[in-house]
Amino acid sequence: MATPKSPLSDTVLNMTESATLKMAALGREAKAQGHDVIALSLGEPDFDTPEHIKEAAKVALDEGYTKYTPVPGYPELRQAIADKFRNENGLDYTADQIVVSNGAKQSIFNIAHALLNEGDEVIILAPFWVSYSAIVELAGGTPVPVGAGIEDDYKVSADAIAAAITDKTKFILFSSPCNPTGSVYTGDELSAIARMLVRFPDVYVVSDEIYELINFTGEHASIGACPEVKDRTITVNGFAKGFAMTGWRLGYMGAPLEIAKACTKLQGQSTSGANSIAQRAGLHALTTSLAPSHAMKDAFAKRRELIIGGLKKIEGLKVNHPQGAFYLFPDVSAFFGKSAGGSTINDSDELAEYLLTSAHVATVGGSSFGAPDCLRISYAASEEQLTEAIARITKALGELK
Ligand SMILES: Cc1ncc(COP(=O)(O)O)c(C=O)c1O
Repeated sequence: MATPKSPLSDTVLNMTESATLKMAALGREAKAQGHDVIALSLGEPDFDTPEHIKEAAKVALDEGYTKYTPVPGYPELRQAIADKFRNENGLDYTADQIVVSNGAKQSIFNIAHALLNEGDEVIILAPFWVSYSAIVELAGGTPVPVGAGIEDDYKVSADAIAAAITDKTKFILFSSPCNPTGSVYTGDELSAIARMLVRFPDVYVVSDEIYELINFTGEHASIGACPEVKDRTITVNGFAKGFAMTGWRLGYMGAPLEIAKACTKLQGQSTSGANSIAQRAGLHALTTSLAPSHAMKDAFAKRRELIIGGLKKIEGLKVNHPQGAFYLFPDVSAFFGKSAGGSTINDSDELAEYLLTSAHVATVGGSSFGAPDCLRISYAASEEQLTEAIARITKALGELK
């Protein structure tokens, strides 16, 4: 009898599974088998949402914010976002240029679908967040990674970007602070990219600033504030990381009006907009004290020192000093070709699997971030867990010969 054909679309069959979610699932499996797994694979703060934001959600329910919202978000939230952009980031978007979505991920999904035709190219600064390439491909575009190594703190120069631009390039996509490297582009570095783009007036910029509030330099720079590209920059941000609100699914963009309207049209035929209660809580988060966010950032800064201090002592591991987010992205290529217990490590994905099975520490291999020599280690975990993880990683890597 013939095997039945898969009912699934080519789109889904060709899609890659998210490496971070895959490692999280493997970690859960190991935990279910009774192992004491330390999860350093996750992209979310281990803190709970600040109490005053949760209170605002309860009030929203009591006040009856339970109906469909306008597709691009409540007007008062869009105005608060425009005010935040202006006052805190020097960005010039009016409220009608703001679109609120179910997370920054959906904002990027909307942008890609609003801008890309089959075969259009998107320059993705590498290492990059895993979903960027998948989203660009889903929208029919071709991801063009342009990378930098640990010796440059994983920051790509304006010249390297210019060399990759072709007449098919639609936009440049990057995050700062960056997932997975924790790198932060300075105002000068962004300004150099903006000046270079004067030569390429049709190329847009998509700046993902979701980690804005987890920045240890004390200074967050937005490329959309540079006069050369202010009219063609789409700025994405959200509540997940800085306010510990990953589960609330709330993000937003500021975009040229034509693009904001296109994203609203797309959203009107897909999600109908973001959750009403989350929007009210988000409004409260944006218009009250940022003290809880700053306290979380300070805790991350302390953990960063702890984990860097521990991992720097491991021979062969190349570690830099990231300035933001909650990730360390060491170069682990010195361990390739080494073995333990009869199995040889050939790449960072295999190293991540080795650390999970032998040390019960979950990390993520770098290949899906466009950096096969590296390993992403999230330090959104308690100091006790990090101390224990450092000891386990040190022992497991030491056993590789
Ligand atoms: C760089 C980057 N952008 C966007 C997102 C998604 O944010 P949200 O949860 O708001 O969809 C993440 C989450 O991991 C991220 O790391």
